Amino acid sequence: MIDVGVSDIAIYIPQFYLPHDELAEARGIPPEKFREGLGNHKMAILPNWEDSVTMAANAAAQLLEKTGTNPQEIHQLVVSTESGVDHSKPVASFVQGLLKIGSRCRIYEIKHACYGGTAGIVTSIDWIARNYGNSKKALVIMTDVARYGFGSPGEPTQGAGAVALLVEKNPRLLSVDTRTNGIFSKDVFDFWRPTGHRVPIVDGKYSVACYLEAMEEAVSHFRSNVGIPRGRLLEHLDYILYHMPFTGMARKAHRHFVDTEHVDLGAEARQDLYTETFRAKVEPGLLGAREVGNIYTGSVYMGLASLLETEQDRVEGKRVGVFSYGSGCGAEFFLCQMKTGLSEIIQGMRFQEQLDRRKAVTFEQYVQWYSRSGAETLYHPAEVEAHKDPFTQFTFIGFKDHKRQYV
Ligand code: HMG
Repeated sequence: MIDVGVSDIAIYIPQFYLPHDELAEARGIPPEKFREGLGNHKMAILPNWEDSVTMAANAAAQLLEKTGTNPQEIHQLVVSTESGVDHSKPVASFVQGLLKIGSRCRIYEIKHACYGGTAGIVTSIDWIARNYGNSKKALVIMTDVARYGFGSPGEPTQGAGAVALLVEKNPRLLSVDTRTNGIFSKDVFDFWRPTGHRVPIVDGKYSVACYLEAMEEAVSHFRSNVGIPRGRLLEHLDYILYHMPFTGMARKAHRHFVDTEHVDLGAEARQDLYTETFRAKVEPGLLGAREVGNIYTGSVYMGLASLLETEQDRVEGKRVGVFSYGSGCGAEFFLCQMKTGLSEIIQGMRFQEQLDRRKAVTFEQYVQWYSRSGAETLYHPAEVEAHKDPFTQFTFIGFKDHKRQYV
């Protein structure tokens, strides 16, 4: 039987964050609105010497190292981002160079807002299934700096980070049968960034409505693909990971899931079901979103890392439903069948260690870093040296002849 999926996962979290309480104070907003309303506590801040390329390479370098994979063994490298650094040259090419991935490798960048990484994973799984006899490996990376306008409603949902996944046959972490995936897409303007804009334009409340419609439709498509009647899907899932720009979005999504899947139940029974299943099936995936913020393409996969970190070997053999959403919009709901013997994979992520190593920046530092334009000289060797960090192997040092330079 064909068995393809993800063999291992690595995550890269930047070493700086801004506490939401500090942002709230500076903006004159009650801190409870961010802590409880949106449900986020810290947001990752990317220093000037990092970008979507360095984060992608930092995550992927950990993945290759922890799996003992020779870069020459990678035959497909897909990087998904909406924080690309060049309109033509893909982030994947920079990563290929930094990681010394061989030339007999198909490489490309995918953009579809936060959904792009899922497209990369699904197409990589299907490509490996078609080449089943040849033991191909794909490296799929999601990397983003989630930026919004200063003082805008989206500002407290910012974040930055990257996730790298190794996709291959007979996977060690989880399997996906992509034939059952539930799909939804629609042409909407809920969140977009016209060429040349540094930050997105957002119709915030409408984006939440688009997300919920996409989820309901993708879940319904998945249910019909696997032949499960309405009202019975929740009992087939041990955990659910929702795309999470802020943890409150997972609450809204799960509420909508219960309300639309359990229309036969009265309001009180639905409330009880929501409360009980949110705690058991959704809450374990919230760690990253709460501590790091939105990382766009990698967001739902940081949810997977969070689930692994929080639940440890309790996830072994479990069924995990994943809802991936990208504005614009595209969405997919799919099932991950978790494997057993995962402790090495989980320890190797060093996720909590990365969260614990971080340093808080002041509101003034955040404004200073995020006000500089990309064309300015960003590299100050003494500053970089002072923040040397074992997880941050690659640094952006500026331009030479219009070419981005990394060390
Ligand atoms: P807002 O202005 O903060 O909304 O914008 P709000 O005033 O409704 O407040 C948010 C919550 O805080 C509410 O709770 C309030 O009641 C609560 P809810 O009713 O939602 O449960 N609140 C308080 N709670 C405790 N104490 C208080 C208090 N005051 C208020 N004192 C919005 C929220 C999401 C619109 C904004 O943050 C935004 O525009 N975010 C960016 C867009 C976004 O994240 N959309 C989500 C769906 S689209 C998506 O996920 C795709 C995306 O990732 C992009 C991509 O695909 O690339 C964004």
